[in-house]
Amino acid sequence: MRIVEYAKEEELGVEAASLFMEELHKHPDLLLCAATGSSPIPLYNQLAKIAIRNNSLFHDLRLIPLDEWIGLPDHEGSCDEYLRQYLLEPLKIDKERYLNFNPAGIDLNQECLRIHQLLKEQGPIDLCILGMGKNGHLGFNEPADELQSHCHIASLSTGSQQHGMIKKTIQKPTRGLTLGMQDILSSRRIILLISGDGKEEAKHQFFSRTISSKCPASMLWQHNNVDCLILVNH
Ligand code: GLP
Repeated sequence: MRIVEYAKEEELGVEAASLFMEELHKHPDLLLCAATGSSPIPLYNQLAKIAIRNNSLFHDLRLIPLDEWIGLPDHEGSCDEYLRQYLLEPLKIDKERYLNFNPAGIDLNQECLRIHQLLKEQGPIDLCILGMGKNGHLGFNEPADELQSHCHIASLSTGSQQHGMIKKTIQKPTRGLTLGMQDILSSRRIILLISGDGKEEAKHQFFSRTISSKCPASMLWQHNNVDCLILVNH
């Protein structure tokens, strides 16, 4: 794992965007898996700037979400809305290249199977952008005795139910759809972004390099192509 610390958000974003573009040059039809939340925003902002200069670079890029809340009363705070704002619109990714989740379907187990099948047909993920949650989660793969391999319905930790993305939602979702750990670990390359307050304990666990299902991010130590970019507050 290549680990680099940054003191400024913008520097982290510029470096992450440079790694991203390196992959995109190699694979113009890159299958990107994108986390939401605050950690990847500096990267997505840089990509939006690149797209203003030369949008054609993103013409063949495909996008799959990492996760999505189940049961939000409206679209506000959803991962879909976030991805539209930060990636789909700025990079002009059309709907044929967006492998989105439907968390409002009647049969969510069927939806998980559909996503699993999509990944089989279009995967593996070429580049996976991850943010580490406050309890060490990746997507909605929450700390547990056992982790799931593929797309599944996850029970959300209290922390995830309080996430800033859904701060305006009164009736907090208790479940989410998420890609599983094997889906993530099968990615050709991973960029893990660590930033934000309240992550000291998770960082401590992660950097102990002990691989444990109690810290899903620690599974990334098993992968041989991970860049870990950390924003540090001095
Ligand atoms: C939520 C999002 C994830 C994100 C995670 C960490 O669970 N659904 O996609 O990776 O939070 O968010 P943050 O970067 O804001 O800590």
